[in-house]
Amino acid sequence: MTKLVGVLTAGGDTPGLNAALRGLGKAAIEGYGMQIIGFYEGYRGLMQNRTIRLDGSNLSGILTRGGTILGTSRDKPNNMPMGGQFLDMTDTMLENYNRHHLDVLVCIGGGGTHKSAAKLMKKGINVVTIPKTIDNDLFGTDHSIGFDTALGIATDAIDRLHSTAHSHHRIIVVEIMGHNTGWLALGSGIAGGADVILIPEIPYKANAIADAILARSRGGKRFSIVAVSEGAMNRGDHEEYIKITKELAEAKKSGEKEKIDARMLAFRQDHATSTIRLAQELERLTGLESRVTILGYVQRGGTPSAYDRLLATRLGTAAADMINQEKYGIMVAARGEGIEPVELSEIVGKRNIVPLDHPWIQSARHVGTNLGD
Ligand code: F6P
Repeated sequence: MTKLVGVLTAGGDTPGLNAALRGLGKAAIEGYGMQIIGFYEGYRGLMQNRTIRLDGSNLSGILTRGGTILGTSRDKPNNMPMGGQFLDMTDTMLENYNRHHLDVLVCIGGGGTHKSAAKLMKKGINVVTIPKTIDNDLFGTDHSIGFDTALGIATDAIDRLHSTAHSHHRIIVVEIMGHNTGWLALGSGIAGGADVILIPEIPYKANAIADAILARSRGGKRFSIVAVSEGAMNRGDHEEYIKITKELAEAKKSGEKEKIDARMLAFRQDHATSTIRLAQELERLTGLESRVTILGYVQRGGTPSAYDRLLATRLGTAAADMINQEKYGIMVAARGEGIEPVELSEIVGKRNIVPLDHPWIQSARHVGTNLGD
């Protein structure tokens, strides 16, 4: 029997999503004689039944294109924004899945997408997932689509900031994405030769950073590049964050979470400008002129790197293989040289953070990079 496959891309876009759609689609259609339906804008399109038939014509010519031809959204099946309220729409999604007589739904996304896929699985939908995120924080896979491209973009930016920082004898603090993990800042900071790298896993002290910068100045290097992950925090903020997180967990149990939610929201809003405050503090502590560059969405845009095209093609085609074998409820994970199925139940709710003894951290310290501690 011809298998009918649905596919969606959800969460933040990354370069390489189209390469994954192409890999999945070509292998499924040409290799296994399956049919593919794409849903627009992640889980929202599944709820609204907004579809496009994917075939040779629209899967061709997209290997190198950034973004996603399907569009994406961060909407969650069980908490869907609907006319001013949030509703559980998983039943509607199940109806649409059945309406198309689908055998499986392929969900391409990061941590949130995987959580949502697991929820749909509980409703009776067969799912296969493909890992993508520029943050590299997905548990259970060595690599995720998009990280390598973003790493290249951030490294290139740090390279370029060097010459201007050097010419003006300035500190340039460059904010790099990564959500609550430091992979992107750490990797690009090492590759780009940043003098200071700050990541969420290592709460920092501004004084320690200023001392390192002043030591460079005394050695004749009158500029410094500080690569800071968007989730990095100074020690005081980190303590506060841990406190609110614990209180939130307790409040969830007692059903009184709204007050703590508001505190967390206020904390996050305040944290959004922490890189600017850090630059100001470093200027005050060192007497050196400081500037900020926030790389932002440029890290997620444009053409995927060769590595991401290769990874996306491998993961997409492996997903078609899994569907052919009717292996459902799994993520296709990149492990070592190969691709392996990993049960969704083993990975959902877990995060891949930078271990403090990770070789990248050791290497950074060995080349004299200050990590803010
Ligand atoms: O998860 C990818 C990512 O780019 C993070 O690095 C960043 O924190 C977040 O998405 C930004 O989210 P949004 O696209 O919703 O602004």
